[in-house]
Amino acid sequence: MNKTIALTETIQIPQLGFGTSGLKEMAQASVLHALRTGYRHIDTADIYETHLAVGAAVRESGLPRNEVFITTKLWRHSVTADKVAQAVERFLNELGTDYIDLLLIHWPREEAEPEETLPAMEAVRQSGKVRALGVSNFDVALLERSLKTGVQVTNNQIKYNLETRPDDIVAFCQANNITVTAYSPIRSLGSEAAQTRLSELGAKYGASSQQLALAWLLGKGLILIPRSTRPENIKANYKAQAIELSAEDAQSLEDIA
Ligand SMILES: NC(=O)c1ccc[n+]([C@@H]2O[C@H](COP(=O)([O-])OP(=O)(O)OC[C@H]3O[C@@H](n4cnc5c(N)ncnc54)[C@H](OP(=O)(O)O)[C@@H]3O)[C@@H](O)[C@H]2O)c1
Repeated sequence: MNKTIALTETIQIPQLGFGTSGLKEMAQASVLHALRTGYRHIDTADIYETHLAVGAAVRESGLPRNEVFITTKLWRHSVTADKVAQAVERFLNELGTDYIDLLLIHWPREEAEPEETLPAMEAVRQSGKVRALGVSNFDVALLERSLKTGVQVTNNQIKYNLETRPDDIVAFCQANNITVTAYSPIRSLGSEAAQTRLSELGAKYGASSQQLALAWLLGKGLILIPRSTRPENIKANYKAQAIELSAEDAQSLEDIA
C-alpha cells in the first residue's frame, strides 16, 4: 500500500510516514505499532529525543534496515560547519544504524546560514552516512539561497494542512525538484466551513475527517507524517492511503477557505 515518491533519481521515500514529536515515553511502542501496521517511513529529530526509541522499535520490528526510511533533523545547536559531522555520528549511535536516509536542517538559524550548513551536510553525505539532504521550515528566499550552494536539496518539510497552506513554497519546490513533506497534516482541520465539508464527505466515503484530510493531502502529491499514540488512529491514518477522493471533492476542499 505504500506509494513512494522520488527524492532523487535513485532514492524513493514512502509518501506516508509516521511522525514522532511529543511521543515521549510512548515513542517506542507507537513506532513499533506503526511499523507493524505497515508504515515504512519514520520522521524523527534530535530535538524530539526519540532517536533511541525509533532505533529500538526498528530493531524490535525485525524489519531489515533498508525497508525502513528514516528522516532526522539537525537542531539549531548543530548547524555550524564544525558541528554537523559530530552530530550525525551521535544520531547514528542513538538510532543504532550506520546510515540516515534523509537529513534535514530543522529550522533556519541566523548564526549558521544554509551556505555554511549545507556544504557540511554534503561532506557527510559523501561519506555514505546520509543518503539525501533537505531542509525544514524554509521559505522561498531561503530555498533560493540553498539551491545556489549547488548542494542537492531534495526535501522541504513545512507545516501544511487545511488551515495553513503555504502554496507559494510548494509551487517553488515543485518547480525545483524539491519534494515537500507536510507536517502537522491533521493538527488543524481548517475553518468551520472546511470541517462541515469534511463531515459531508465522511458520510459519502465512510471515512473520518482526519482520514479525508490526509487523503486530500496525499492527492496533492505531498509527503505526510501524521503522528499518534493511539493504535486505532495509527491504523486509520495508514488506511487513508486507500481513499481516492473524486476530483470534484478534492477541489471542494481546495476551494474552501
Ligand atoms: N519540521 C518541523 O518543524 C516539525 C514541526 C512539527 C511537527 N513535525 C513532524 O510532524 C509530525 C506530525 O505533526 P504533529 O504531531 O504536529 O501533528 P499531526 O500529526 O497532524 O496531529 C497529531 C494530533 O492528531 C491526533 N490524531 C492523529 N491521528 C488521528 C486520527 N486518526 N483521528 C483523530 N485524531 C488523530 C493525535 O492525537 P492521538 O495521539 O490521540 O491520536 C495528535 O493530537 C510530528 O510528529 C513531527 O514528526 C515537524
